[in-house]
Amino acid sequence: MAQNPTEHVSSSAPITSLYLLSKYPPSPSTIFHFFTSPNSREKLTDTNMSRLLHFLTQAWTPPTDPTTSFAGKTIVITGANSGLGFEAALKVYQLGCSVLILGVRDLAKGEVAKKEILNRAGKGEEEGRIEVWSCDMDDYEILQAFVGKIGELERVDAVVLNAGVFGVKYEKGRYGWEVVLQVNVLSTALLGILLLPLLKAAKRAEGERVPVLEFVGSEGHALVSVEQERREQQNLLGSYNREESFIPRVQYQTSKLFVMYIMQTLASLATLPDGKPEVTVLAVCPGGAKSNLSRGYEGVVAGVFKWVFGSLFLRTTEQGARTLVSGLLLGEEAQGGFWQSDVIREPAPLVTGEEGEGLRKRVWTEIVEALETDVPRVNEVLRKLEK
Ligand SMILES: NC(=O)c1ccc[n+]([C@@H]2O[C@H](COP(=O)([O-])OP(=O)(O)OC[C@H]3O[C@@H](n4cnc5c(N)ncnc54)[C@H](OP(=O)(O)O)[C@@H]3O)[C@@H](O)[C@H]2O)c1
Repeated sequence: MAQNPTEHVSSSAPITSLYLLSKYPPSPSTIFHFFTSPNSREKLTDTNMSRLLHFLTQAWTPPTDPTTSFAGKTIVITGANSGLGFEAALKVYQLGCSVLILGVRDLAKGEVAKKEILNRAGKGEEEGRIEVWSCDMDDYEILQAFVGKIGELERVDAVVLNAGVFGVKYEKGRYGWEVVLQVNVLSTALLGILLLPLLKAAKRAEGERVPVLEFVGSEGHALVSVEQERREQQNLLGSYNREESFIPRVQYQTSKLFVMYIMQTLASLATLPDGKPEVTVLAVCPGGAKSNLSRGYEGVVAGVFKWVFGSLFLRTTEQGARTLVSGLLLGEEAQGGFWQSDVIREPAPLVTGEEGEGLRKRVWTEIVEALETDVPRVNEVLRKLEK
C-alpha cells in the first residue's frame, strides 16, 4: 500500500509541499477548517499545511480520466441521479457498460437522469440497458428489495455505494437516527453487508476480475478525532445522535471515518486466507468536487460563496467522478484501500493504527447492533460471512 507522503513533509519544505500538492489534494473541509477555526494558524501543522496546499491546487490537478471499456459489465450506482453518482453513471455508460442500474430515492428524478445519460452518451437504448430502481437510504424495506433485485441480475460486476448527505441542520430519519448517520453510515453498512454474499457468489468466467464493492468516502475522514468524552459513553454511535453535540462538519467527517471502518471490516470478510480477494472492497475519494452536496446552505450569501469557492478550488463533477470509475478498475492491491487522485493512499492513523483498530471493532459492533434491531436477518448474513 502506498505511504502517506504528507507524513514526511518538514516545516521547511514548502517545495516538497508544492510537489505533493499536485499529487495528493486535500479535502474542502481542510480549508474550511483553516479559515473558520479559532487559532487555526497556530494549529497549522506540517501535515495540514501540505493538505491545505494540496487543496488549493486540486482543481488544476484532476485525476486521470479512465478509458478502459466496461463492455459486458453490469454496474450498480446508488445516488445516481445527481452529482458524482450521475457523472460516474454517465461515464461507465459511455465506456460501454452493458447494464447500468441507477439506484435513486426518487424514481422521477432517476428517469430524468436516465434520459440525460442517453442524450449525453448519444447512444440508442439497445447499446446498453439502463434501469432506474428505488433505493431510499431511509427505508430498510426498500433497501432490502433493492438488494433482492440485484440478486436477480444475470451478473453483477460492481456496486458503487455513493449516496450520501451533508446535513446542515440536525434531522432524524425513520429509525430515530440523525440523517447523516442513517444515510452515510447505517444504510451504507446495511447495503454492504447484504450485498457482499451476492457479490461473492457472482458468476465469473475464467480469468475475469472479481466483483467490486466501492464505498464513496472522503479524505475528511482524516480530519476528525473521536474525543475522549465520547469514547467514555456507553454507545459511541449514540453519542453522535444527540442534537446538542451536532456540528455539521464533524458529523459528516465522522460518518466518513465510520465508512472506512465498514469498508475495512467488509474487505476482511471478502478476503481468502491466502490474501486473495473474493470481492474487491475499497473506498474512494473524489477530492473536493462541485455537486449538490452543500445544498443545505441556502440563500444569496451562501450561493455566492459556493460559486466563488467552487470556481477557485473544486474539481468539476466529471473530474471528481473519474475516481469513482477508475476505482472499479483496480485489482487486489486495492483491497481495503483508499483510492484518491490516482493513488492508493494510506488512510488516517485513526483507521490504521492500534487505536483505530479498537475503534473500528467498537463502531462496527454498534452499527451491527443498531441494524439488527430493525433488520434481524443482518445477524444471520454476518454469521455466514464470518464462517
Ligand atoms: N462533492 C464532494 O466534494 C465530495 C467529496 C468527498 C466525498 N463525496 C461523497 O460523494 C457522494 C456523492 O455526493 P455528491 O457530492 O455527488 O452530492 P449530491 O450531488 O448531493 O449527490 C448525493 C446523492 O445521494 C442521494 N441521497 C441523499 N440522501 C439520500 C437518501 N436518503 N436516500 C437515497 N439517496 C440519497 C441524493 O439523492 P437526491 O438527489 O434524491 O437527494 C444524490 O443522488 C457522497 O457520498 C459524498 O459524501 C463528495
